Formats: sequence, structure tokens, C-alpha cells
Amino acid sequence: MADKEELKKTSVPGEKTAEKPKKKTSYISAKESRRITKFNRKITKKLEHDREEAGKDPAYYTTKMRDPNNVVEFDNMCTYFFSDVGTVKAVDGISFDVPKCSTVGVVGESGCGKSVTSLSLMQLLQRPSGQTVGGEIRLNMGDGTALNIVNTPVEKMQELRGNSISMIFQEPMTALNPVFRIGRQVNEVIELHNPEMTEEQVKARTMEMLELVGIANKEGVYEMYPHELSGGMRQRVCIAIALACRPGLIIADEPTTALDVTIQAQILDLLQNLKDKINSSIMLITHDLGVVAGMADYVVVMYAGRVIEKGTADDIFHHPAHPYTIGLMKSKPVVGKKVEALYNIPGAVPNPVDMPNYCYFRDRCEMHCEHCSGKYPPEIRISDTHVVSCYRYFDEGEVLGYPKTVDVEELLNG
Ligand SMILES: Nc1ncnc2c1ncn2[C@@H]1O[C@H](COP(=O)(O)OP(=O)(O)O)[C@@H](O)[C@H]1O
Ligand code: SF4
Ligand SMILES: [Mg+2]
Repeated sequence: MADKEELKKTSVPGEKTAEKPKKKTSYISAKESRRITKFNRKITKKLEHDREEAGKDPAYYTTKMRDPNNVVEFDNMCTYFFSDVGTVKAVDGISFDVPKCSTVGVVGESGCGKSVTSLSLMQLLQRPSGQTVGGEIRLNMGDGTALNIVNTPVEKMQELRGNSISMIFQEPMTALNPVFRIGRQVNEVIELHNPEMTEEQVKARTMEMLELVGIANKEGVYEMYPHELSGGMRQRVCIAIALACRPGLIIADEPTTALDVTIQAQILDLLQNLKDKINSSIMLITHDLGVVAGMADYVVVMYAGRVIEKGTADDIFHHPAHPYTIGLMKSKPVVGKKVEALYNIPGAVPNPVDMPNYCYFRDRCEMHCEHCSGKYPPEIRISDTHVVSCYRYFDEGEVLGYPKTVDVEELLNG
């Protein structure tokens, strides 16, 4: 017990424990704005330089998986944006795994850092302002080694994208190039990663992929432009492109948000079936709990750039532990159950430029207790598969550790 009391007092590296006085206004003076611009220029230059150096020697980006049964391991990853109003800690010390041949749902409300997590994994952040400044993202290469994506050079990333990891975006119309025929767009990916294949072999693979994603008129679609297809058909084409090289991991970022409800179900079924056919894993990013409930084996709940709860789908949907997850479950409409008004979680997400030092959910939490004014809660294991960041479980579970944040001033001067 005494140890736990000590743990509550120990400060998180780079974080002050005392409550900061809240800024009353978002106004930035000209002087402050100049200081921010100067700081951003210096730090992004340093980070770009460090990245270039690290990319020169494979020893800096070759690593080992903690568990070889995982495809990807996020380990205290921090991705920040150095913006004109200050440093936006979009993702701050998140850790979770994507096991082989499984679907991991990443859920949370808009702006909680889901897309930034997937873009960090693909190294597609808007640089130089967007930077992964801390932690590791380990990608299993299948030969006993792993790559730390954070330091992997761009040329190597180009080999991996589409080949080992591929991505399906929310808007199929913007993901496809409007001026090229569908066939050419699918061929391109296959050609790029299989230079030994002949033209006929590439076309045959494209046809095979179009058939696999349920496009009946594949010869016709091969010659069509994206605007000639419906939203659902376009998303099928995007899935064909993503799966063309049989990647170990498919990232689907809100893949059905732009589609009608009936088409949504078809696309999700398709994804799930194809994943099993090619033995891939899916990282399914969505704000829609219904989508995750139907598909995911594991669920990661994010809030304000941090993972607040993770576990199997059963843990999260039937035994939610974090007050935010409990609130999300309560706010779901249930068919056949009449209610006056749906529950909504009071308050708003804190400002990402000026996060509090205590639990990010405290100002909205109806269950907060005396410990909650202390520093940000650690990750606590409450069952073999279920981990939650909340002081309510501090005395019951095993404390795994605190999320690591990065002090950007220290990073610049260190
Ligand atoms: N290019 C950018 N510049 C500055 N801030 C950004 C940028 N992209 C995303 N952010 C910020 O990062 C946070 C997380 O965004 P995002 O990952 O897109 O959320 P979502 O969970 O809805 O996908 C938000 O606060 C957003 O404002
Ligand atoms: S740590 Fe406290 S304030 Fe934060 S979610 Fe848990 S009970 Fe609520
Ligand atoms: Mg998003």
C-alpha cells in the first residue's frame, strides 16, 4: 500500500504535478507568436536532422518485437504538431499492440488522435510541423526483426507502404485519382511492389483483386474512372488496392463513415472476410461503437491523445471500467428501449495546446475521487486482458506505469 502511495506522488517524466493555473483566453500576443515561430523553426530543424542521421544506419531503426505474435506495437508513442498557437500534443504516450490475424478497433470522439496514430504508423504526417517526438512504433518484419517506424528512412517506408502496411481512407473519392482509370490505379500498386511481374500477370492480379472485393463487372470497372462508380464500389476498389500486395496490416480509418448504412455493413463484412483470407490484421479506426462491436477482437479507447482503456471487445462492451467508456456505452441508443433523452457526457475535451497535469477527463467525470486531483493516472491492469487508466482501480489492480510525455524545451536543449 505504501508503495502505491509513493507511486501516486512520483512525477511523470517531463510533467509537473502541481495544477497549472488555467489560461483565461486563447489570445496570443505578437511577442509570444514570434517566440513560438522561432521555437518551432529550431525544434523542427533539429528533429528533421536527427531523423536523417538515424535513418543512415539500420542499427538505429532495427529493433525486436516485445512479443513476436504482434504485427505492430505502439510503445509510449508521442506525436506533436508544432503549430502557430503552440505545441499540439495530438498523441501523447500511447501504448497498445495489434496481434497477428486480429482486428483491433481504435475508438474515441473526433479529435482524440485516432488518425494521427495511423498517420504516424504510415509516416504520413504533415512534416515538418507534425513530428513523432518520442516512443517507438515497432513493425514486425516476420524474420525475427522489427523496424522502429519512428526512425525508419523515407525510402524504406516507401517499400513498406502498400506492401507490409496499407491504408483505407474515409473518403474513397479523394483517395482515388479522378483522372486515371480504375485498372491503372490498381495495376500501379502491384507493379511497384512486384517489378518482376509481366504486364499480363499484373492485369490478371488486378482482375483477381476486383473479383475478390465483390465487383461483378470487373472488365467494365477496369476501364472506368472513379466518378463513374458509386461510393460503395469506390470503397471496394480502395480495398482492392490496399489488399493487392497482401499486407500484414490493413489500417482502415473510418472506412464506412462516408457510406450509407446498408453499404457500411457490406463493406465491413467484406473487410473481415478478406482479412481472414490473406491472414492480415486490421486496425479499425472509428468513432462508431456499433462498427467496432461487430468486428473487433480487441478495442482501444482513446481520449484527448491518450489511451484510457484497452481490452478484448467483451471487456470493453460488457465490463467497461473507465468513466468515459461507461459514459460512451450509456450514450448508445438501444433498439426497443424508450428513453426521454439519450445520455450525453457533460463538458468538453481540454485544449490540446494546454493539457492539464491531472486526469484529462476529471473536469467531466461524475465519479472523480480525492486522488484524481493528483497527476495523470497510470495504466492499471484489472484482468489478464483489460487495462484502464483511472484512479478508481488504483488499489485493486497492478500498476503498469505512467504514459511518458516529452518535454519539448528539454528535447531542443538536450
Ligand atoms: N496538421 C495538423 N496541425 C495541427 N494540429 C493537428 C493537425 N492534424 C491533427 N491535428 C490535431 O491533432 C488532434 C488529433 O487529430 P486527429 O487524429 O485527426 O483526430 P481524430 O481522432 O478525429 O482522427 C486534434 O486536436 C487536431 O486538431
Ligand atoms: S482518474 Fe478520476 S477523474 Fe479520471 S476518470 Fe478516473 S475517476 Fe474520473
Ligand atoms: Mg480521424
